[in-house]
Amino acid sequence: MYNPAMTSFLDDWTAEFAKAKSRPRPYRNAAVSFRPTSIDDREQRRVMLEQTGLNVFKFPAAMIPGCDLLTDSGTTTMTMRQWSQLLLGDESYGSNEGYFEFKQQVVETFGPQWENRNSDQENVFIFHQGRAAESGLFTSMAGILGAPGKRAGKEPFYIIPSNGHFDTTQANIEANSFEARNLFSPELRAKNDTALFKGNMDLDQLRALLDDPKTKQRIPFVYMTITNNTGGGQPASIANIRKTAELCHAHDVPFLFDACRFAENAWFNQQHEPLCKGKSIAEVVRLMFEPGTGSMSA
Ligand SMILES: Cc1ncc(COP(=O)(O)O)c(C=O)c1O
Repeated sequence: MYNPAMTSFLDDWTAEFAKAKSRPRPYRNAAVSFRPTSIDDREQRRVMLEQTGLNVFKFPAAMIPGCDLLTDSGTTTMTMRQWSQLLLGDESYGSNEGYFEFKQQVVETFGPQWENRNSDQENVFIFHQGRAAESGLFTSMAGILGAPGKRAGKEPFYIIPSNGHFDTTQANIEANSFEARNLFSPELRAKNDTALFKGNMDLDQLRALLDDPKTKQRIPFVYMTITNNTGGGQPASIANIRKTAELCHAHDVPFLFDACRFAENAWFNQQHEPLCKGKSIAEVVRLMFEPGTGSMSA
């Protein structure tokens, strides 16, 4: 539509731009390549470093395994392979190839219990962000339970215990009239403790809540955040996760994960948890998720 004000603005802008001494180049996407160079060619790289006078700009990029971190600008750049996959991707609007591949990957990563056995009832939902998934989860829980609470001018009835709720999780819980209860581990509460798994659930506190029928009836499910980001990104041990699950199963209470950083948590367990000795990351992940009823992943 013709807009005289806009036309005059564009004329002024074009005149100013014509006078500019240097002009920004138009937006351009860069691509980096992920290099398969062997990490063992250390000696060759050492010699090259000397020959280039320790000047990282002169070091041949092709000799760097993986991606170089010469600058942090552009590190979010995609690799050539990612770009090519994007152009080859199936972008059909609904139920495209990627959707089915994703569902298959969920089963491969987390275990056969995640297979959808009832085609009328989805068991995997995709959200654009973790906090949107949380909103979906807690709003539907509130719809099912009819959570009495703040909206009705009352104290929340339902309590969601966790080893540590992330702030967006807590906000979504409270916005739906539930209470978010943090059961931080004693090691996390004792500042400066050097324990490895400070992200654990405080099992004594959880047991006390579940053993008392008055509080147990107020717990629709227990939530385990791995890693415990609110507690400073601290890992939770497989032993603690499994004991939490045992307590939940013994009391017939569902056990859900906020699996935001499950891969790092798996790695840390692989390195330090005796139960994971000699296991691959994929096996550790299975051990971690086996006892769960469901999961929300940011
Ligand atoms: C433990 C945890 N839960 C939930 C979220 C929310 O995820 P998102 O930032 O994708 O909304 C985050 C985000 O960092 C998180 O660390």
